[in-house]
Amino acid sequence: MIKKKLFLGTNTKMYKTISETLEYLSDLITLTSDIDWDDVELFVIPSFTSLESAGKLLRERGSRISLGAQNMCWEESGQFTGEISPIMLKEVGTGIIEIGHSERRHIFGETDQQENLKVKCALKHNFKALLCIGETLEQKNYDISDEVLSMQLKIGLHGISARQAGNLWIAYEPVWAIGVNGIPATKEYAAMKHKTIRGVLCRLFGETTGNSIPILYGGSVNNQNAADLISMPDIDGLFIGRSAWNAENFNKIIRTVYPLWKASRAELK
Ligand code: 13P
Repeated sequence: MIKKKLFLGTNTKMYKTISETLEYLSDLITLTSDIDWDDVELFVIPSFTSLESAGKLLRERGSRISLGAQNMCWEESGQFTGEISPIMLKEVGTGIIEIGHSERRHIFGETDQQENLKVKCALKHNFKALLCIGETLEQKNYDISDEVLSMQLKIGLHGISARQAGNLWIAYEPVWAIGVNGIPATKEYAAMKHKTIRGVLCRLFGETTGNSIPILYGGSVNNQNAADLISMPDIDGLFIGRSAWNAENFNKIIRTVYPLWKASRAELK
């Protein structure tokens, strides 16, 4: 399977105010201005409050960096205090909706059924839906990671057609690998899980669509392990937290993985 694009993105979680986001994005725009955008899909998912100004900055600077939201309600409007609707996110120029991040699931109690409603809503509104999945350490220790991933995909993507799945991205983020106490997955482990995910996607949507859905790895990606991870089959991109929150460091990772990805793609042709 020829990989179409390299996906590299960051979720800034509950960090960076509007001014900090703009400073960060401005640096990232400058550093990445020479990137081959036919090859690379670069995206930043900042706080809700930063989205509007971030979108304006990207347009003013003519940058092809995409913007995403960290969460979204599955309803267009209504009595849902504290939620943000797809219409509101469209209004500020958001292109990607991150759904089911481990912190949403494990701190805020979101369920696979809720993620499914969000995926359906995001696709209906023509966003890219970035569904995050991953097993906990306990589930890994019980050796039920594949079952958990399969369940998260089958419920999270229930009722999605192969045509709609063209706008779907998956992030595999093992819960035990994320954040300051996380231990990054080995490249072998990550590749095994990506293969499992690919298999489920192919069963759900058929080989052609299943193989075309990007699967990104996330969880303690850093300057040391990024190259190894991106060289593995079925790892189409990296979804990075801490190591990408400094624009120069993110750029270093981009410059490390892009040539490797390009070379591995040339070999596949
Ligand atoms: P870290 O890279 O900081 O572990 O975070 C990963 C993540 O949660 C991306 O969504």
